[in-house]
Amino acid sequence: MRPLMSSAAAVVLLFCANFAFSADLHEHSKVVCYWNSTSFERSGPGKLKVDDLKPALSLCTHLIYGFAGIKPDTFEVSSLNPNLDTGAGYGLYRQVTHLKREYPELKVYLSIGGNADPYEETHKYLTVTETSEARNKFIHSVISFLADYEFDGVDLAWQFPAVKVKKNRGTFSSLWHGFKKIINYGKFKDEKEKEHRDGFTILVRDLKTQLRTKNKALTLTVLPHINSSIYYDARNIVSNLDAIHLFAFDETNPERSPKKADYPAPIYESYGREPSDNVDAQTRYWSENGTPGSKIVIGIPTFARTWRLTEDSEIAGVPPVTADGPGAEGPHTAIPGLLSYAEVCSRLTESSVGRLRRVNDPSKKYGAYAYQAYDKKAGTDGIWVGFEDPDTAGNKALYAKAKGLGGVAIYELSLDDFRGICSGDKYPIVKGAKFKL
Ligand SMILES: *[C@@H]1O[C@H](CO)[C@@H](O)[C@H](O)[C@H]1NC(C)=O
Ligand SMILES: *[C@@H]1O[C@H](CO)[C@@H](O)[C@H](O)[C@H]1NC(C)=O
Repeated sequence: MRPLMSSAAAVVLLFCANFAFSADLHEHSKVVCYWNSTSFERSGPGKLKVDDLKPALSLCTHLIYGFAGIKPDTFEVSSLNPNLDTGAGYGLYRQVTHLKREYPELKVYLSIGGNADPYEETHKYLTVTETSEARNKFIHSVISFLADYEFDGVDLAWQFPAVKVKKNRGTFSSLWHGFKKIINYGKFKDEKEKEHRDGFTILVRDLKTQLRTKNKALTLTVLPHINSSIYYDARNIVSNLDAIHLFAFDETNPERSPKKADYPAPIYESYGREPSDNVDAQTRYWSENGTPGSKIVIGIPTFARTWRLTEDSEIAGVPPVTADGPGAEGPHTAIPGLLSYAEVCSRLTESSVGRLRRVNDPSKKYGAYAYQAYDKKAGTDGIWVGFEDPDTAGNKALYAKAKGLGGVAIYELSLDDFRGICSGDKYPIVKGAKFKL
């Protein structure tokens, strides 16, 4: 009797193991890589072409093409940059999905939203959830879009309204403008939060029903500054999602906090900071609300956030530091307040002009930073840089591993050192994370 029971049990186990294996090859080792395809339009060393993606594709399990938008009048998914994506010019959608011929294990998804859709029009991300007519138009357009361009799935990087910046005592409201408002609804207050949350749950359910018949995936990207407990009904959407990519980074950035430079992407809470602004708090929200660990994927930024230091800034550089708006733009990316890892890294070497003083993170909890203080004699501004490097990216991967999560989501490839300018090694942040999973 006994041997029979255990061999029967073994057969059942084997069957389950096989099933799980075929269902998700990368249950705990997903390396989801986003590509901002608009980086193709940069000039100089910041321009990332399809061939430049290849060294990453043996490391990434998923490639997410960012970003498509929604048409405000018809609620259909559409390219935000037809010349690049679909047109006779480059046709990047097809070029990218055809990479699967060379990398047969790779899954390529299209992402919608991602704050690439014009800021003035983001209300459509709410309106589309409100009626079954709007939802169905959106869903039908997604299904035919994926089929036309041969994507394996769709990612919803939904542009819900961001949490308002809390005013701290002792900080002054900013007098400085000119930094593009990326994820800010200004004074907008969503009076129909619950309706939008429920509508989104139905949209996800109905979209997944359609995708299932086509064997295509559906994932969610939780963008920075969106309060999950308001807009995501975790218990009711999770069964219709293949993964949730948690962008628990850019928590502090020079747009939201112009006068105070601080860690942009901590894993854990530290003293005096907003308790929800870290990887651990957001992971706990989803997992305490019924999300299996294997569906939670931890976002890792490849970019740094920078602030300008002036004569009012503390000289020691220990965050939080008094600052005055975004740091100067970098030579490859030309965006104030942001540097790619290649741009940061080249300023950390001993011989570099404008060398930064680097401070590592032995606690493995908060991230690395580097700075150059204000120069009193010359009267020149300093800079404070909160950044991710291969070690801190590895720490986030180790967190994912220790908690039994699904893996990591790298945001994004064009802001890693994809040319290997810094140490000769291409995609050091992707590697730093991947090898710790
Ligand atoms: C993508 O890169 C372009 C070019 O640098 C930039 O203008 C744009 O803001 C980026 N988009 C996102 C969503 O990060
Ligand atoms: C998120 O929303 C909940 C209410 O649903 C609130 O209790 C919490 O404070 C909010 N978090 C932030 C960071 O605003």
